[in-house]
Amino acid sequence: MRCVVANWKMNLASREARAFCEDLLGHFTPQAGIEVGIAPSFTFLHLVSELVRPIGLQVFGQNGHAEAKGAFTGEVSMPQLRDAGCSGVLLGHSERRQFFGETDAALATKVKAAWQWDLLPLLCIGETLAQRDAGQTLEVLRQQLSILAETGPGPLWVAYEPVWAIGTGRRAEAAQVREAHAFIRGELNRHLAGTDYVVPILYGGSVTPESFPELLTIPEVAGGLVGGASLDPRKFAELVKQAG
Ligand code: 13P
Repeated sequence: MRCVVANWKMNLASREARAFCEDLLGHFTPQAGIEVGIAPSFTFLHLVSELVRPIGLQVFGQNGHAEAKGAFTGEVSMPQLRDAGCSGVLLGHSERRQFFGETDAALATKVKAAWQWDLLPLLCIGETLAQRDAGQTLEVLRQQLSILAETGPGPLWVAYEPVWAIGTGRRAEAAQVREAHAFIRGELNRHLAGTDYVVPILYGGSVTPESFPELLTIPEVAGGLVGGASLDPRKFAELVKQAG
């Protein structure tokens, strides 16, 4: 299975989101074996869901709170994401870890909450440049995946996003991606031993139609989690086509 997911981050207004979806629908042919998703801002989750779910696209929240409801001003819960039409939720994006203090402990509770509300967690992991330079990349990935020891097994997608490759135009080299994805697969095999869960591992970080075909040739790269290039419906449709 291949997966291509657009992470729109804090971009677009509802009018632009509608225009994107309408343009995408005009250029999009559903293909067997390819899952396509969009993670819009909370304010137009409903709108995007109504437009793209009928043709089989998934809609992801960009974050979700572990509690189902209560006094958590500014937060959105997993059942609220479901109510807005989501089938999944991004968890642990490096921007959440960096700017909002998201910890592995909090992520373990969020993954469990997502499962409780029948949402597919897309868990994002990756090292900073300082960690890579210090030779800590694999240890960081091991640590970030160790939350699975606490959550236990369940349906999951993982995205490897080296922080230094996000929004920088500096894509990780093939050998770096190969090493990280092989390591992640080994860790997932360990955590999910004896279960039937098949976890696709997406690459994220400056993915464009120019770089995606080569990335897709790397073993264990099941697709992409795309930021900047996903804001252009033609580029996004091209990425989906390349995954086919
Ligand atoms: P860019 O594709 O803009 O580098 O962003 C990647 C990302 O963070 C996707 O979650």
